[in-house]
Amino acid sequence: MDREPQRAAGLMAKMATILRTRGMDLRTLPELADDRAYLPQDALDAAERRIPYLFREAEATHPDVAAWTRRVADAGRPGIQGRPGIHHAPSILLIGPTGTGKTYQAYGAVRALLAMGVRLSWRETTSAELHAMMRPRQTGDGEREFELLKRAPLLLLDDLGVGGVTPFTEQVTYRLIDYRYREMLPTIMTSNLPVGPRPMPGDLRDVLGDRVTSRLRQMSTVIPLDGSDRRVAPAAR
Ligand SMILES: Nc1ncnc2c1ncn2[C@@H]1O[C@H](COP(=O)(O)OP(=O)(O)O)[C@@H](O)[C@H]1O
Ligand SMILES: [Mg+2]
Repeated sequence: MDREPQRAAGLMAKMATILRTRGMDLRTLPELADDRAYLPQDALDAAERRIPYLFREAEATHPDVAAWTRRVADAGRPGIQGRPGIHHAPSILLIGPTGTGKTYQAYGAVRALLAMGVRLSWRETTSAELHAMMRPRQTGDGEREFELLKRAPLLLLDDLGVGGVTPFTEQVTYRLIDYRYREMLPTIMTSNLPVGPRPMPGDLRDVLGDRVTSRLRQMSTVIPLDGSDRRVAPAAR
């Protein structure tokens, strides 16, 4: 019996599953079905569907953020179809009060990497989601999801330290950060906690603990964002 059609169907189903996890649909990717190399623009389009609506047009306008994206792209090794994949590179920590554009710059950085043709394999989470995911629960497998975040070639970890820190949440954050620190996996982090030269109550070190903060400081460039809250309508300022 000829098993070729069966094998091909199996492969197509597998491919569709992989694409689905990346927010893509095989039927809407004619370039892939045609077996033609797909262009960064297609990757950008597909990624944009995973980016929250509010940040779909985000641009890495901050010079330090833009410089970091170039560094990560340069560190990339040839991946699928010769496009650079994300490889070992330093991280960034965007610091600033609420509404100064930290999440905007973070998604802007993801979009910039895509536009430069960097192979897309990225995940995003927030501190609050991370902690909720890891809490003991009846269904699902938090540990497996955690492993995927921990090992993601590029990770966006938004709002570090939000929601308070307990020994449990500190341990989860520590495991994530420590792995990425040791493997030098590029991570975009944001926090509205202050990182001053002198320790003070409520600052990053105070909230996240010494172990997490010292790794963060070593693995990342701190990029302060300031200015007024962009969420406040100009008339209300
Ligand atoms: N450079 C920018 N250009 C245009 N809109 C921006 C810019 N930076 C931020 N915004 C918008 O301002 C709002 C607040 O930005 P956000 O990144 O969510 O702030 P934060 O994460 O620091 O609290 C969002 O609606 C965002 O789209
Ligand atoms: Mg934000």
